[in-house]
Amino acid sequence: MPVPQEVSLQSGTFALKKDFRISLSGEPDQRILQASTRFLRRLSNRTGLFLKQGYVTDTNFGKGGSLHIHVNRPGEVRLHEDESYTLDISRSGIRVEAETDLGAMHAMETILQLIESGESGYQLPGIEITDSPRFPWRGLMMDVARHFQPIEVIKRNIDGMAAVKMNVLHLHLTDDQGFRVESKSYPVLHQKGSDGQYFTQTELRTIVRYAADRGIRVVPEFDVPGHASSWLAAMPELGSVEGKKSYEIERNAGIFDPTLDPTNEKTYEVLAAVFKEMAEIFTDEYFHIGGDENEGRHWDANKRIQAFKNEKGFKDNHALQNYFNTRLLTHLESYGKRMVGWDEILQPGLPKSAVIQSWRGIDALVNSAQQGYQTFLSNGFYIDLMHTAVNHYKTDPLPDSVSLTDEQRKLILGGEATMWAELVIPHTVDSRIWPRTAAIAERLWSAQDVNDVEDMYRRLEIMSLQLEEHGLLHIASRDQILRKLAGGHDIAPLQTLNNITGPLQRYTRNPGGTMYQSYSPFTLWADAAVADSETARKFDSAVQAYLNDKNAKSGDYIKDQLLIWYENHEALSKIIRVSPMLKEIEGLSEQLMEVSELGMQAVYLFEKNETPDLNWLSEAEKVLKKARLQGGRTELMNVNTIEQIVRSLVKVETGN
Ligand code: ACM
Repeated sequence: MPVPQEVSLQSGTFALKKDFRISLSGEPDQRILQASTRFLRRLSNRTGLFLKQGYVTDTNFGKGGSLHIHVNRPGEVRLHEDESYTLDISRSGIRVEAETDLGAMHAMETILQLIESGESGYQLPGIEITDSPRFPWRGLMMDVARHFQPIEVIKRNIDGMAAVKMNVLHLHLTDDQGFRVESKSYPVLHQKGSDGQYFTQTELRTIVRYAADRGIRVVPEFDVPGHASSWLAAMPELGSVEGKKSYEIERNAGIFDPTLDPTNEKTYEVLAAVFKEMAEIFTDEYFHIGGDENEGRHWDANKRIQAFKNEKGFKDNHALQNYFNTRLLTHLESYGKRMVGWDEILQPGLPKSAVIQSWRGIDALVNSAQQGYQTFLSNGFYIDLMHTAVNHYKTDPLPDSVSLTDEQRKLILGGEATMWAELVIPHTVDSRIWPRTAAIAERLWSAQDVNDVEDMYRRLEIMSLQLEEHGLLHIASRDQILRKLAGGHDIAPLQTLNNITGPLQRYTRNPGGTMYQSYSPFTLWADAAVADSETARKFDSAVQAYLNDKNAKSGDYIKDQLLIWYENHEALSKIIRVSPMLKEIEGLSEQLMEVSELGMQAVYLFEKNETPDLNWLSEAEKVLKKARLQGGRTELMNVNTIEQIVRSLVKVETGN
C-alpha cells in the first residue's frame, strides 16, 4: 500500500536468512546508506533474524549481496524529483533500480511490505514491480498550533509517511492558539505567543533533515493575516484594532477576529524578517502563508484601514488581502520561495507563481488550474472530520469529470491530508492520522483505477499493524486511555463498546468550538474511539451477505456479535459505577444493549421468514432512535446496519 503501477507475480520465493546482505552501485550517497541500514534493522525486527550485516557503508559498494540497489544519482528533495523504481525479486536475489535514491527508498518500503511467512521461515514472493507516483505532491498537514506536537511526534509521523510513500510534510506552525517556532528576529513572538511550547530553530532544522533523509519535503505555514491572535498576543501593535494594547492567545476553536493590519508598514517588516529566517531553515521552495478565513471584521471596523482601501481603489477586503498577499509574495520570491495559500487567496490579480491549496471544494482546484496556477487538493482529505477511510479514498484530485487541458492537468500537483489539532494531543494525534492516511496516500500514488474498497481495507489493516513499528501510538493509545478510565478494572467490556463507537463527526463533537478549550482533558472516552470502526465495518459486511442469503455463514457471526454486545452492558455497568469518568457512557452502553436485542429479534424473524406486527415495528423505531443518541461525544456505528435488518422484514407491497 499504495498499490504499485505495475506488478507481475513470478514463480518462486526468496528466502530471508541471516546472511542477508545489501550491496549498492551507481552513485549511492550517505542518505541511501543510512536508509539501507534502517531497512536492515526493520527487516531484522520483522523476522527475528540476527542478521550478520549490521550497517551498510561505502564498503558495500559493488556487486553481490542478496539485495542489490542501483541508483543513478542522489535525488533532490524537491517537487517533481524522480521517485520511480523497479523491483525484481526472484529465488536468487532482489534487485532494485532507481534513477534516484528517493525511488530506491520507496522500493525498500515495498520490500518490507512483501515479507510473508513460509514453510521454512520468512520469505519474499517472486515479483516484478515497476512503480512511480501518479501525483508529485502527496502530503500530510500537521497543525502544531492548536495543540503543540513535539519533535518526537513529528518524527514518528514522518516515518509513517515514508512507509506509505508520502513526500510532503506541511507544518501549520502558527494560529490563534499558538506561535510554535523560535524567532530570533522577534523572540517576543514565541515568548508571548506559545505558552512556552514551540520548536527551537535547532529542532526545526532537525525536522527538515530527518524528513529529507526519508525523501520528504517540509513546507512551513505561517497563517496570516487572520488566525493571528498569537502573533498579536506578542505584538499587539500589528493588530487592526486602533489603539488596542493587548490580545490574548485563543483557547477555544473557531474563526476569530484578530487580524494583522495590512496598512501598517511594521507588519511587513516583521513578516519579512520572520519569513527570512524561516526561509533559511525550511529549505523547500514552497512556503505557505495561510490566508484562510479572514472575515475582515477588524478591518471593517477600522476607519484608517477603510480609508486606505478607498485610496487604493480596493473594492472589498479580498482586494485588500490580495494586496497584502502580493507584498508577502514579493518578499518570499526574494528569498527564492514560491508562495502557497489556502484557496481564499485565489483573487483577481494574484501573481501566477502562487500555489493554491483547495480546501473549500474541488471547484477551487479546477479554477486554479484553469487560470494557470499550480494547485493541490485537501477538500475531501480532512481527516480531523472523523469520516471513514473510504470517504477519503473516493476523493480524486483529478476525476475524469473535470475538463482540463493536458497543460492544466499538470498543474494539479496532488493533495494533502489535513490533521487539524483542536481536539488532539501528542498521545492521540496518531490515532486520527493512521491508518486512514494510508488510504489517502494510495489515492495520491496509485493509478486512478485502483479503487477496490474491500481490498483497500484488507491492506489497510495490515498496514496499520506495520505502522506501529515506527512508535506510532494509533493502536496503543486506545487501550492506554481505556485502562486509565477503567481504574484497574478489566478493560474488555470498555473495548467491546469503544470498538463499535466513533467520535462525533465533522465539528459536532465540539459545539460552538467552546465545549473544549485547548487545556481541556483529551484522554477521555471519545479520544479512545476511532473514526473507522473495524468492528462496525465487519458487522455490516456480514449483514449484507446474510440479507442476500440467509444461509450465508455470516449468520452465526452476526448472532454471536449481537449477543456479545447485548451482554456487555451488565459487565460494563459494574465498571461505570466505580469510575466517575465513565458516567458519560452509561446511556450509550444501555443503547448498545437495547439495539442489539432488537437486532437479535430481527434476525430471528428474518430467519423464520416472519413479518413483525405493527407494535413491534413501532417499538423498533423507538429503540433505533434512542440508539442514535451520542454518549461521551461518540455514537454507535452499527445502528444503520441493524436498522437495515429491521427494514428487510417489512415486505413492501408493490401494486400496479
Ligand atoms: C482551513 O481549514 N481553514 C484551511
